[in-house]
Amino acid sequence: MRGIILAGGSATRLRPLTLVSSKQLLPVYDKPMVYYPLSLLIELGLRQILVISTPEHRDQYERLLGDGGRFGIRLEYAVQDHPRGLAHALLLARPFVGDGPICLALGDNLFHGPGLPGRLRGALRRHRGCTLFSRKVAAPEQYGVATVDARGRITGLEEKPERPRSSLAVTGLYLYDNDALHKAAALTPSPRGELEITDLNRSYVGEGRATLVELGDDTVWFDTGTPDSLLDAAQYIRLQQQMQSEPIGSPADSAYRAGLIDRDALERQAPVLPLHARAPADPAGHRHGLLTEPQP
Ligand code: DAU
Repeated sequence: MRGIILAGGSATRLRPLTLVSSKQLLPVYDKPMVYYPLSLLIELGLRQILVISTPEHRDQYERLLGDGGRFGIRLEYAVQDHPRGLAHALLLARPFVGDGPICLALGDNLFHGPGLPGRLRGALRRHRGCTLFSRKVAAPEQYGVATVDARGRITGLEEKPERPRSSLAVTGLYLYDNDALHKAAALTPSPRGELEITDLNRSYVGEGRATLVELGDDTVWFDTGTPDSLLDAAQYIRLQQQMQSEPIGSPADSAYRAGLIDRDALERQAPVLPLHARAPADPAGHRHGLLTEPQP
């Protein structure tokens, strides 16, 4: 499975912060926003990841993340000339993806929680067709919203409905089989001129090939696309990191825990927590961080 991180878009809700800067390079407390989804994909076992950004910011991403070697993975870059939608970005990824399955992560989504990596890895193992992850939220009208039947099967998906029929927001992490590429190519732009990810997902729902995994109350999820949610996410990370010795959303630490880099390589990278604050080295990955299973 190959990973895609979407770091394009125009981020109008964060202007003037994003008049010059790319949203996904803005800080969430002590790290650039894009570190969080990158770190999550590394934790999930993805080793080849494409970062899609705007033409003007592409070089900044490459300067920040390089070819991925420092994290023991391979990173590639692509540009989206205009924000033509999340599903459009999938089309750009076609040469990178080849004929395998895809894990798409939105560059402004941040997930954290003790049971999360285990649950996501379970979903990866069971994945067929399309797998979506939902979280109960107080303001579902700001997101894609899923409705489910008594057995938890998806009965409908709506993008930012005025009157949401459930409180289940569809989060910015999506698993697809390779059919997503030709399905995305067949979509027509929505009234706002975008190829909508919700339309793509609906096509899987119509075929009975979409699964919804509900992330429980032990999972924290932020879409950091507004000033308030960006600040909330930063405060959350600050508080959590004060209470634990393990940084959250650090690709180098995730790579170290996954056994992709050694401790020397970790220490050569700019630490996001003072090294003395870190738990002792344990390459088997048994520290009390996000990983609970030993890595190969
Ligand atoms: O955060 C989850 C939500 O993300 C979902 O619940 C919605 O169904 C989905 O449409 C999306 O809604 P947003 O309004 O939050 O999407 P946004 O425009 O903020 O774009 C999400 C990410 O994708 C962000 O990192 C910018 C990037 N992006 C966006 C567009 C439209 C691109 O790279 N290219 C694009 O064309």
